[in-house]
Amino acid sequence: MSFDWTEFDVSDQLPEGWQRDVMAVAAAADFQGFPRTPVLSREAQEVQRIPRGRVHADQLRQSLLWIYRSYREYFLNLASSISAGPVVLASDERYGVVLNIQRGTGMRFECHIDSNPLTGLLFLTHHAQGTGGELVFAYDEDADSVAAVDRDCAVIRPRAGVLIFFDGRRHPHYARPLRSESEVRAVAVMNFYTGAYPESTRPPQLNRHLYGDE
Ligand SMILES: [Fe+2]
Repeated sequence: MSFDWTEFDVSDQLPEGWQRDVMAVAAAADFQGFPRTPVLSREAQEVQRIPRGRVHADQLRQSLLWIYRSYREYFLNLASSISAGPVVLASDERYGVVLNIQRGTGMRFECHIDSNPLTGLLFLTHHAQGTGGELVFAYDEDADSVAAVDRDCAVIRPRAGVLIFFDGRRHPHYARPLRSESEVRAVAVMNFYTGAYPESTRPPQLNRHLYGDE
């Protein structure tokens, strides 16, 4: 089985000093053990919480406005350029674009599948070969744990300023822990939708889980 993604190096489009600004925002992220996500989690049964940091959408808009703006225009245009039909932004800004942060060796991103048909990830930090932080996608659509994903997977090493697009609805994926206590991993995660798979398909349990929606 295969898994495909598309990469763009957008580093020459990012504002002066962007990495320094990202680090300041990452340090102020909401760090906690996030409970496993309903419907979409592909963690092993015994895993109840996955520690990481999150920079919420409103905080991101205030502190890194260029990411918010790029999501709505430049990155949207890139997403459209690789898609057969029209691509649209999430109208609910809470999950349009956010940052995920890992700090030290005890954090990773939950093993899961996506609910949206097109995801953009802008890597904001660079991780050399062998230093952890890889994004991995299972070839096996039935993989139901980190160990199962690791058995046979595509491995993407984060390079700062590289934007990738993929459809993560079928292949379980997660971000590996870092190997050094002093390292930080930051990535901007962007949700896009299509005419065939609009935002209305998003499971309502997700917003109840994440934001306490009724
Ligand atoms: Fe995902």
